[in-house]
Amino acid sequence: MTGTRARQVIVTAASVIDGKAIAAQVRADLIPDVTALRDAGIITTLAVVLAGDDPASQVYVRNKVRACEEVGIASRRVLLPSATTTAELLHVIAELNADATVHGILVQLPLPRGVDTDTVIDAIAPEKDVDGFHPENVGRLMAGRPRFVSCTPAGVMRLLAETRVVLSGATAVVLGRSRTVGQPVAALLTAADATVTVCHSRTRDLGAVTRTADVLVAAVGRPGLVKADMVKPGAVVIDVGINRLESGALVGDVDYAGVSAVASAITPVPGGVGPMTIAMLLQNTILAAKARLSSRGDRGAPQ
Ligand code: GUN
Repeated sequence: MTGTRARQVIVTAASVIDGKAIAAQVRADLIPDVTALRDAGIITTLAVVLAGDDPASQVYVRNKVRACEEVGIASRRVLLPSATTTAELLHVIAELNADATVHGILVQLPLPRGVDTDTVIDAIAPEKDVDGFHPENVGRLMAGRPRFVSCTPAGVMRLLAETRVVLSGATAVVLGRSRTVGQPVAALLTAADATVTVCHSRTRDLGAVTRTADVLVAAVGRPGLVKADMVKPGAVVIDVGINRLESGALVGDVDYAGVSAVASAITPVPGGVGPMTIAMLLQNTILAAKARLSSRGDRGAPQ
């Protein structure tokens, strides 16, 4: 033994929040509900509308349909050409709204250029809007009376719950103020008693704000934006970003390797939030079918 001791540098890597495994468990837990609905005469059914030939959207829709099949939810794919007009989409949606055998309607976004997305979303019957994008469902969430919480925000919250993250009193920072992710995530974190700050492209000294976060949710769509020096040691980091690099690699908004050495827990991309989004879609579709069952009452009317 010499008198000198080697200096030890202890680097503890964050634990990985395995969205793929958690989503698989959520899906498995949904199967008894689908079976019970079937026993009550209801075949839980999701209609997925895809207009155009965006390759990423085709992959998403395929994954959603496959996940439906896995838990016993029937899916109906409505495939439309890129030249589809707003009026044509409204016609399709009116038919699906009127079809009592369809419980959930999902219109895959983005819609082709020239289509008025807001008008199309507004046309979906709120009680079938399993994406939670209809203004009535957005408003219900903000009013503290949620019906369908949109799938990615719901998935983020479920990941935090499954990871046993204590949100009450926590400082949470949400990067991104989109209507589909940033804003609803901020509302849900606030409802869970976190103290929430929403950052966006005009935020000054972003790092100073993100370093206050016990829980950091990144949803801006900028690859590797969140670096290790922007993260408080021990923070829980949820990466909602899905960015395709020119190399073809899929990365999040967080510099995963760097931030893993600082955070206490982190979601990977892929395999973090993405699988949860689909699991929450299935959950919402079952919720819609259950609502149909209870509105049917004892009359035994068709689905
Ligand atoms: N496109 C990308 N993500 C989504 C989503 O969650 N729902 C819909 N409808 N379209 C999307």
